[in-house]
Amino acid sequence: MTETIKEHISEIEAFTANTKDEVENFRIKYLGKKGILNGYFAEFKAVPNEEKKAFGQAVNELKDAATNKVQKLKEELESREEEKGVYGDLSRPGEPVEIGARHPISIVKNQIIEIFSNIGFNVSEGPEMEDDWHNFTALNLPEYHPARDMQDTFFIQTNPDVLLRTHTSSVQVRYMEDNKPPIRTISPGRVFRNEAISARSHCIFHQVEGLYVDKNVSFADLKQTLLYFTKQLFGKSKIRLRPSYFPFTEPSAEVDIYWGLETETDYRITKGTGWLEIMGCGMVDPNVLRNCNIDPSEYSGFAFGMGIERIAMLLYQIGDIRMFYENDMRFLEQFKSSI
Ligand code: PHE
Repeated sequence: MTETIKEHISEIEAFTANTKDEVENFRIKYLGKKGILNGYFAEFKAVPNEEKKAFGQAVNELKDAATNKVQKLKEELESREEEKGVYGDLSRPGEPVEIGARHPISIVKNQIIEIFSNIGFNVSEGPEMEDDWHNFTALNLPEYHPARDMQDTFFIQTNPDVLLRTHTSSVQVRYMEDNKPPIRTISPGRVFRNEAISARSHCIFHQVEGLYVDKNVSFADLKQTLLYFTKQLFGKSKIRLRPSYFPFTEPSAEVDIYWGLETETDYRITKGTGWLEIMGCGMVDPNVLRNCNIDPSEYSGFAFGMGIERIAMLLYQIGDIRMFYENDMRFLEQFKSSI
């Protein structure tokens, strides 16, 4: 008898089906109430004692083979149908989908954009691969100007006229070339500098620069605009402007915000002063306006620029800039934002 059971098992293994009915008939034949399996179960009593063990094992194998086969045939048919766009049980629970989070750099960039768009600034973008004119010369950095060294430029191959932009000021030049004042624009983007990678600096980072050109734009306008910005972004309302130097602005200043000295971290990040440098700014140099075909006797303007990573590190208290580029899910998952 176990021989016939074995034959059934080989039959089961060889069986194939093309329709649901065929699978169902197969199931009834083996596993149905009056099916083959139940037939054997009914015979069990009559089997001589010494054969019971082998017989029982064989029947169990038959049962497993038939049950597995039915399951397998059903799955095969379903996936074949899904390939054809026919879905079986639509009430089946779906695959869990992980909700992504925006990258902290994007969140901070979007916040900055929103703050400035509320006071009439639009967003402008430009190429990451630049020419000498837009990255340097138009910005009052002629060839051999010593300040070019500070920029640690990456050149593409050996052509000195093809480089990776070292700041997004290049976008402002492009914008002034293409648009007449009044101009109110901010330019977010990725910039590149040949610097050693450490916890504090990276060779690829992001900047947002702002530009405002119109009649009678003054340094007071610049200071009030920055004060509005720092209040909105950091909730801090004390800033100071320290004289500084940029080739494309005159006068130029470094902007510090008063961060406070409430916690130990405040002491550490402000080196005990309570003040934090957050950006550079100044009145657009008349030479730059002239280079972009804007008459400096009629118009004046201010510009400012900041590193997004630095701002994000302050806002989220992130101690190492490299975290932004490592794509570590445990880090990225912590940033959920609606912006
Ligand atoms: N482009 C400057 C930098 O990369 C920042 C800046 C922009 C300073 C505009 C003044 C005005 O450091």
